[in-house]
Amino acid sequence: MNEIEAIRQRHSVRNYLDKKIEKEKVDRLNVLIDECNKAGNLHFQFIEDAGKTFNKLLNRVMGLGTAPSVIACVGKDDETLDERVGYFGEKIVLAAQNLGLNTCWAGTFNRKNIAAKINDGERLAIVIAIGYGQNPGKEHKSKKFEEVTVINGDRTDAFDKGVEMALLAPTAINQQKFEIVLNADGTVTFTDKGGTLSRIDLGIVKYHYEVGSRSVTE
Ligand SMILES: Cc1cc2nc3c(=O)[nH]c(=O)nc-3n(C[C@H](O)[C@H](O)[C@H](O)COP(=O)(O)O)c2cc1C
Repeated sequence: MNEIEAIRQRHSVRNYLDKKIEKEKVDRLNVLIDECNKAGNLHFQFIEDAGKTFNKLLNRVMGLGTAPSVIACVGKDDETLDERVGYFGEKIVLAAQNLGLNTCWAGTFNRKNIAAKINDGERLAIVIAIGYGQNPGKEHKSKKFEEVTVINGDRTDAFDKGVEMALLAPTAINQQKFEIVLNADGTVTFTDKGGTLSRIDLGIVKYHYEVGSRSVTE
């Protein structure tokens, strides 16, 4: 699986075909979801029939009501949940892209209608709409490298590639309110500059950065 390709091809898709995801692909997604749940102490659930999860007015205006399926991003509720959700959720989003599927993270949805199991001590942080898109989506307007980085050390190809991939990450309302700091000792720190669901954004951005920088050092 080439995640760099998936990052380049992925865009949020809000209008879906009336077509179910094949069992073989659902099975593959569920294997990955199980792995992520173990690694991230999460309780993500693939829900085949999105039902009325996206029946809010805003969803219908944007088109998300057409999504056939949904992934409920549930996990043990602590201060790290949103970031873990973003990190592992994006891993699943990129795998879905490689399976020929389309996705859209959605903070706006109807919590009353989703068939998710939320145990005591858990929280449903966000959902991911998933299915076959009517279109591939389109590239988002992006901040520039200089606008999201603080450089206090020597830049490397791995750092540059990480930032390039981070700039392609989905963020709530395309806010891109993150900062990637290259420290003098070569370590990298990620800062959340606040905003709607920005801790989830940060987890997503970290995942993209890692995919990018790893592709150079591999
Ligand atoms: C945490 C988060 C929440 C989002 N919530 C919604 C949403 O409720 N409705 C929607 O249509 N898009 C939502 N999006 C999708 C963003 O609008 C989209 O990622 C952004 O505009 C960048 O576009 P791209 O994903 O095509 O690169 C969300 C994205 C993220 C990361």
